[in-house]
Amino acid sequence: MTIISPSVLSADFYNLSTQLEELNRSEAQWIHYDVMDGHFVPNLTFGPDILKTIGRHTDKLLDVHIMVSNPMQFLEYFRDCNVYMMTFHYEAVNDNTLIPMIRKCHAMGFKVGISIKPNTKVEVLKDILQFVDLVLVMSVEPGFGGQKFMPESLDKLDWLHQFRQENGLDYLIEIDGGINQETGKLAVEHHCDALVTGSYVFRHPEGIIAGVKSLL
Ligand code: DX5
Ligand code: ZN
Repeated sequence: MTIISPSVLSADFYNLSTQLEELNRSEAQWIHYDVMDGHFVPNLTFGPDILKTIGRHTDKLLDVHIMVSNPMQFLEYFRDCNVYMMTFHYEAVNDNTLIPMIRKCHAMGFKVGISIKPNTKVEVLKDILQFVDLVLVMSVEPGFGGQKFMPESLDKLDWLHQFRQENGLDYLIEIDGGINQETGKLAVEHHCDALVTGSYVFRHPEGIIAGVKSLL
């Protein structure tokens, strides 16, 4: 079954507890948590304390997406946050730090995801795909919810699927940005395993639970 990972970036923070209860009753398996540093992306969001609070009130797996310039420095903050998946950006690290970063995440007990922005070619990941648990393809420029899906990202999903098959690997393929019922269906047709969805589910006219269901 497709993994749905609702992004709390689009939550109504005034009603966070109610929204979290709805998420808990939904068929979503993960909760997506966007950490932005105002440097790697032109926006600032939230840190470990809010994640801890969310983690205390849900059994969903925490899917953390760090859009920060120095991901290695940020890891310690997330040590006691019950992180399931820690996804950082390929563009934020240099080639020498990639493997140490992956190792450190694993040593901290996290699964590791690597993410690429729309302008980054997926082939750059070739040599590290054997070491990661997930690849997150950005289908919008990271930084904000509610943007329009970039269909070019579908080719990256196909490439990742083919590479995974040809090399006997088992990383998950996830997509983030502009996912709704239509684009979510397309992504799944292109072998995507996990859909991040922010504005679509949180502003669904029939509510969060129905929004999640509509993606399955
Ligand atoms: C954007 C974030 C996304 C965002 C997606 O940089 O990484 O996770 O919440 O929001 P929607 O689904 O509204 O595009
Ligand atoms: Zn995200």
